Amino acid sequence: MPSISEVFRILLMISCCVCILFTGGCGESEDNDPDEMLTIMEDPIHSYASYPIGVAIDSPHMLDDDIYYRSLATHHHNSATPGNDMKMDALHPDENSYSWDNAEEILDFCNQHEMRVHGHVLVWHQQVPSWMEEYEGTPEEWEAILKDHIQTIITHFAGSVDSWDVVNEAFEENGQLRHTIWRDNIGDDYIAKCFQWAREAGPSIKLFYNDFSLSYNAQKMQAVLEMIDDFRSRDPEIPIDGIGFQMHISDDQPLNEYIQAAVDSVKSRDLLIHFSELDVSLNKFGLYSELTEEMKIRQKERYSDIVQIYNTIPRDQQFGITIWGISDADSWIRYCFNRLDWPLLFDEEFEPKPAFWGFVTSL
Ligand code: XIL
Repeated sequence: MPSISEVFRILLMISCCVCILFTGGCGESEDNDPDEMLTIMEDPIHSYASYPIGVAIDSPHMLDDDIYYRSLATHHHNSATPGNDMKMDALHPDENSYSWDNAEEILDFCNQHEMRVHGHVLVWHQQVPSWMEEYEGTPEEWEAILKDHIQTIITHFAGSVDSWDVVNEAFEENGQLRHTIWRDNIGDDYIAKCFQWAREAGPSIKLFYNDFSLSYNAQKMQAVLEMIDDFRSRDPEIPIDGIGFQMHISDDQPLNEYIQAAVDSVKSRDLLIHFSELDVSLNKFGLYSELTEEMKIRQKERYSDIVQIYNTIPRDQQFGITIWGISDADSWIRYCFNRLDWPLLFDEEFEPKPAFWGFVTSL
């Protein structure tokens, strides 16, 4: 007896063949839209949620007609974060030129499928173009290039990207400011300046500070809270609308209580809260070579717990939950950390895992 997903896959293949026969390619026929086919598999995840459900998407899959990837992305999510295509090196490869094509194609695709696009990321110490890394100039010149970078990008996407991670990962684990080219050349106040420049370019754009380990590192969370309080105590105030908790977590860490406490501390500051890059690693020490039933169940419970914590946030502060990828096969953990892992809701065959049901049934 084939599984529902196998039936879906067979139907999808038949649909594609018909599509190729009659139109010369998929994606051109409204009648054979893979999104339609997916409705026979499961209801969209986002239809269960009262807040947006996002996914990180990348141009190689999106633009190369990776049909399962695109179908699952558009069917289940009503928000998307480009995983790489809006980073500094992708959008601003040379000092005097910007490269918009991939990001724009992704945006068009998301617009067609009524997915919100969250911009990621204007300022981060990784994936920085080499011209910027190697730049030499006065503090004023450094400010000018960073301001131009932020404002050009926000302005370019105005109307289609209404929220941005303005600064990502500016703090070390001990709560100190990280040494980055901007801090070292502009000074400690560069973060406040970035938020100010962003607001000037996009008065109604939601501006986020995004970081990892906030849900368990109280020292780092405290540093971020102090930054927010400092922003708000200034006259004029430095604008900030939300905090992104990346939420790259594992099956056993951090404890739910820590996550809840961190979330509560941001709740009380009346900011939007985004679980911005959720995934649940099952093999953080690289000890396992296969995914067992027991691991699947632990992961299901974990995804369920995370959603339940998110549900405690008042609706007007829920920006949404974004999952950092679709299938385990394309998770960043596999290639960035070079280890086998199964952190996402769908397996290598695009089959929903128990984690999928843990996530959905808690929404
Ligand atoms: C990751 C991407 O998913 C990878 O494809 C890329 O090679 C490295 O960056 N925190 C972030 C994200 O804020 O931008 C990172 O994304 C994952 C960690």
